[in-house]
Amino acid sequence: MSALGLALAAAAAAAADAETIAATVCVACHGRDGNSAVPVFPNIAGLQEGYIIKQLREFMNGQRKSDVMAPIVAKLKPEDLAPLAAHFSSQRPKPGVVHDASLADEGRKFYADGNEVTGVPACVGCHQSGASGYSIYPRLAGQHPEYLLRQLQNFASGDRSNDVGRYMRVIAKRMTEREMRAVAEYIGSLGADAPQTEAETW
Ligand code: HEC
Ligand code: HEC
Repeated sequence: MSALGLALAAAAAAAADAETIAATVCVACHGRDGNSAVPVFPNIAGLQEGYIIKQLREFMNGQRKSDVMAPIVAKLKPEDLAPLAAHFSSQRPKPGVVHDASLADEGRKFYADGNEVTGVPACVGCHQSGASGYSIYPRLAGQHPEYLLRQLQNFASGDRSNDVGRYMRVIAKRMTEREMRAVAEYIGSLGADAPQTEAETW
């Protein structure tokens, strides 16, 4: 086989391995298509490919701490990460759900404007309109509010510290519990129609 043929065959094998891992391992918590049924497990369908690779790598090297994800990534090979990210990134995210319309409305304003008094920048500036994400800024639309709230709390406390430039730690520290809940409710209610955009990876 030619060098190109070998490379193509290896890529096809890696993609097939990723499908198998997704269907046998990840499925238990993140759902078959990356849309999880249980709110503590994040939806990973449609997340930016580079963002998924970064998170898996950082669960592996301990930069992002999770007692649940650590033993799982420990069993992966470094060459599994990119095909797994490609697989989940290309899955279609389910539309969000409105649980509390008035809280979501409060969160909508916060998402668009931030809080000038306490110096919280508008989320939309980085996570984009419709929270579709872009480049290093992950898609948030339709994510489980419970998961979003916990991540904001973890950034505020420093338990999650893998954000480039400390962006999220600085932002979350300045947010009130009420603002976190409202913005999580709004983001969690967003539909799946926002196009997913991908730019550079790491
Ligand atoms: C036993 C349940 C479980 C299994 C199985 C599992 N995960 Fe996770 N995963 C979690 C939890 C819980 C989190 C949230 C960790 C945290 O609190 O920061 C997570 C987070 C993630 C994230 C970060 C999402 C984000 O929005 O930042 C990615 C990516 C991910 N998992 C990918 C995978 C892949 C790929 C597999 C299969 C190889 C997998 N997970 C298997 C429970 C699981
Ligand atoms: C200056 C840019 C910037 C702004 C403004 C910003 N973010 Fe982020 N956010 C990021 C980056 C970068 C990441 C990814 C961190 C990483 O690599 O783990 C992130 C990650 C997150 C995550 C974790 C997502 C996941 O799947 O685990 C949440 C939740 C979040 N941001 C919410 C918000 C909210 C709410 C606001 C507005 C109050 C906001 N962000 C404003 C840059 C920003």
